[in-house]
Amino acid sequence: MKIVVIGGTGLIGSKLVNHLREKGHEAIAAAPNTGVNTITGEGLAEVLKGASVAVDVSNSPDWEDSAVLKFFETSTRNLLTYEGAAGVRHHVALSVVGTQQLSESGYFRAKMVQENLIKESSIPYSIVHATQFFEFLKGLADISMVDGKVHLPPVLFQPMAADDVARGVARIAVGPPVNGIVEIGGPEQFRVDELVRRRLASLKDPREVIADPNAGYDGAKVGEKTLVPGNNAWLGETRFESWLAQSASQTPGAQPQPTGSAVMTNEKESLKKVS
Ligand SMILES: NC(=O)c1ccc[n+]([C@@H]2O[C@H](COP(=O)([O-])OP(=O)(O)OC[C@H]3O[C@@H](n4cnc5c(N)ncnc54)[C@H](OP(=O)(O)O)[C@@H]3O)[C@@H](O)[C@H]2O)c1
Repeated sequence: MKIVVIGGTGLIGSKLVNHLREKGHEAIAAAPNTGVNTITGEGLAEVLKGASVAVDVSNSPDWEDSAVLKFFETSTRNLLTYEGAAGVRHHVALSVVGTQQLSESGYFRAKMVQENLIKESSIPYSIVHATQFFEFLKGLADISMVDGKVHLPPVLFQPMAADDVARGVARIAVGPPVNGIVEIGGPEQFRVDELVRRRLASLKDPREVIADPNAGYDGAKVGEKTLVPGNNAWLGETRFESWLAQSASQTPGAQPQPTGSAVMTNEKESLKKVS
């Protein structure tokens, strides 16, 4: 199957392209530096020619409220228009668990606009809601700074490795459209403040992390379970400590990890269905 991955050079996109190729599909990485731009429309007609599936794992380069809204709105409209003309039969998009409850954040308002455009279009679709990526924990600290300290709500969350996100999205992309939302998440639950504190410690980042019940998630109020997926979610198997050990071993100059801790036993079978 020809599968076009919009944002195919990014964190999730590049892993997704590899997983799809491993499964024998013709996966094309589409992004501005491969000559495809969803904002200007450049290269879209050409890359989508003959494609059965388009997967959108792009992200806005600018997260300021109006910029991110403009990005997801323009990009999604263009994509759906060109996909319709090319006869694409399945549009898959990556979004975030809890998006509907996070509308106080400009970023999540933009993701909601993206999702609504997809739902209103005539192209069969699957929207994948993933939990936060382990790779994003430092970024989460960066957007949660108040007076030099990281303020985060001590609510539950269930983040996952980017590699598992890519596997989860790949499974959906090669299956039939669900015309709805599918959730994917990590294998363990944590408190947001606790895990960001552990991640910063692993990076020797001295910033203090405050468990602040009044702090939002990217400016949006969150409840105890806003960030965790439901019981039917597909779960990646990479545990946080394994990911941490693996990412440390990939960092230039990193110390060798204790025996056993760096072993990713679940590379082949990373997803299992729960309930
Ligand atoms: N962070 C999280 O924890 C989290 C959780 C759940 C879901 N998500 C979702 O996951 C998605 C992917 O995130 P990511 O971290 O993998 O993103 P990323 O690494 O920032 O990659 C973004 C990709 O989009 C491409 N792109 C940017 N502008 C484009 C344009 N005009 N036309 C075509 N492609 C364009 C980029 O290409 P260039 O590099 O060439 O600019 C890059 O390939 C996002 O939609 C996000 O909402 C994130």
